[in-house]
Amino acid sequence: MKNSYNIAVIPGDGTGPEVVAEGIKVLKTVAPMAGVTFNFTHFPLGGDHYRASGELLNPETVEKLSQADAIFLGAIGHPDVPPGILEKGILLTLRFTLDQYINLRPVKLYEGVNTPLKNKGPEDIDFVVVRENTEGLYAGAGGVLKKGTPDEVAVQESINTRKGVERCIRFAFEYCKKRNRKKKLTLCGKTNVLTYAFDLWDRVFWEVAKEYPDIEADYAHVDAICMWMVKNPEWFDVIVTDNMFGDIITDLGAMIQGGMGIAAGGNIHPQGVSMFEPIGGSAPKYTGQGIINPLAAIGAAHLMCETLGLSEAGQWIENALMKVLREDIKDVGAGKMGHSTSEVGDLVCEAVRSQKKS
Ligand code: IPM
Ligand code: MN
Repeated sequence: MKNSYNIAVIPGDGTGPEVVAEGIKVLKTVAPMAGVTFNFTHFPLGGDHYRASGELLNPETVEKLSQADAIFLGAIGHPDVPPGILEKGILLTLRFTLDQYINLRPVKLYEGVNTPLKNKGPEDIDFVVVRENTEGLYAGAGGVLKKGTPDEVAVQESINTRKGVERCIRFAFEYCKKRNRKKKLTLCGKTNVLTYAFDLWDRVFWEVAKEYPDIEADYAHVDAICMWMVKNPEWFDVIVTDNMFGDIITDLGAMIQGGMGIAAGGNIHPQGVSMFEPIGGSAPKYTGQGIINPLAAIGAAHLMCETLGLSEAGQWIENALMKVLREDIKDVGAGKMGHSTSEVGDLVCEAVRSQKKS
């Protein structure tokens, strides 16, 4: 096993740098306990950099990022840059060029965290969404005609390739098997309306399912999934879906697990460079105040360790995160924790250290 890891850090915009700093603090704390070193290299990408230099992401930077063992991302999004520019120019470009074809988003309600769902607790909310991350409506296919005229035509097409769909579904089955919980994989689609795209998903899903007799294969339409996620979240173990539906249902997932303050995700290329991020965005209104919750970023660090195969380190981080949520902070919301951003990072580090074998 490797014992030195090069981590590319993109603190990004808004509160990104504040939360990433706490994630790094935790990674530096866990590293000696796990017998590894993390070397962090910062890349100043994001809205401020774009406004100052006109540059989004140059090929040399992409090349350097592709050499890293993993990428740790804060947030991309700036109130003074029109929507789409940074998202497409940085975040989506990285996902696509590094072929991070899985967006892995655990939805787990930790003890001590409030969910808006009545009568549901940590035993009910614990599933993972496997979102396809390089195709679908995000591929950017389509175009516009006669823009700005009364005859304007806008077409945005969903691209679904046999290869892209199959590798995503295979990943989801493997993940479900390794996770070893309810052993149930639900395909989230819309076969009753999107009869081309989800017909492909559906056929591949049931075909691959035959190779996994121990896993219960299940299907639900995306609208129904939204309903069940609120009404019966305990039904789910792993959900696999396309890019757009995955984007939407994981925001719902983030809410039922307690909010953006603790939701983390990984953009994964199983054989390549993966990128981990808190999914809450840049939260401009909280920037620089030291009140944003760093636990989502710390959760992203946990996912990073797990994906790098550092499962013990990952477990220490998750245990520490759970301890802090249970015992130390009042609420996961920005400004409501009863501690500053860096104090919460310190509490997690302390809880990591306390697990050291004596
Ligand atoms: C996410 C975000 C991105 C997405 C945006 C910022 C492009 O919402 O990671 O879920 O839609 O994928
Ligand atoms: Mn989203």
